[in-house]
Amino acid sequence: MSHIDDSAFQAISDLFHRISGIRLTEAKRALVQSRLQKLALDSGESDINRFVHKVARGEFPDEVRVQVVDRLTTNETYFFREPEHFEDLARRASAHPPSQEFKVWSGASSSGEEAYSIAMLLADKLGLNAGRGWSVQGTDLSTAMVESASRGLYPMERARKVSQDYLRRFCLRGEGPYEGQLLICRELRARVSFQCANLMQPLPPLPLFDVIFLRNVLIYFDLPAKQAIVGRVMERLKPGGVLYPGHAESLANLNLPLKAVAPAVYQHA
Ligand SMILES: C[S@@+](CC[C@H](N)C(=O)[O-])C[C@H]1O[C@@H](n2cnc3c(N)ncnc32)[C@H](O)[C@@H]1O
Repeated sequence: MSHIDDSAFQAISDLFHRISGIRLTEAKRALVQSRLQKLALDSGESDINRFVHKVARGEFPDEVRVQVVDRLTTNETYFFREPEHFEDLARRASAHPPSQEFKVWSGASSSGEEAYSIAMLLADKLGLNAGRGWSVQGTDLSTAMVESASRGLYPMERARKVSQDYLRRFCLRGEGPYEGQLLICRELRARVSFQCANLMQPLPPLPLFDVIFLRNVLIYFDLPAKQAIVGRVMERLKPGGVLYPGHAESLANLNLPLKAVAPAVYQHA
């Protein structure tokens, strides 16, 4: 198999930037090669450079372009990542007026661990079956991630950060062909929905949220794209609601009505 050359790397980098807003740096060249190689072969093209140019020119069906984007996104995530946000969320959920539904959005939900961590916490604080109204919406650019998140099925070792109590209450241990996996219980899955949404484009219809998680995705964007994304996301945040970027993602130099109220916690002014 050939190596990805300068012109093909430029073409794929431009295409990915146009679609996702993320610029692939030169350091990602080997990664791009390894992630697209098999897809090229599966699409009947043994030369990765020809494959990339054909994708960029739209000579393959749309599914191939979707698969290219899916392979190039970085989907690393885990349950209860950055636990300070969950402590803040627990306080806000408990203080929320019981008569109003508490709505949370996981704005780059990847394979769903973030959305289900939120759901476990809300089930614990607000109740699950006959409890108070709450819901979690997950969205992601990657269709593969949205499908995987909707299944709610994970290798058992991914649950290391889930407490024994939550595992017992909200997860089912796989048996037979599902040995070694855990399934998020049906009642919890019923409160969580996933759909595709590209943060770089106008958003699909979404309600207003009390809390929005927008974590470990802004790092990939330059300042103008970040400003546009956070501005668009904030339109779905209730006045007084909070936005959580990742702890490594400052929103300090954005010109938006957001007030820092704690580390990586911003309130809609
Ligand atoms: C590193 S994961 C973060 C997952 C989770 N929020 C967390 O903090 O663990 C980044 C996610 O952002 C998604 N993403 C990248 N560009 C996006 C865009 N333009 N619109 C929506 N999601 C995007 C990727 O598909 C990926 O699943």
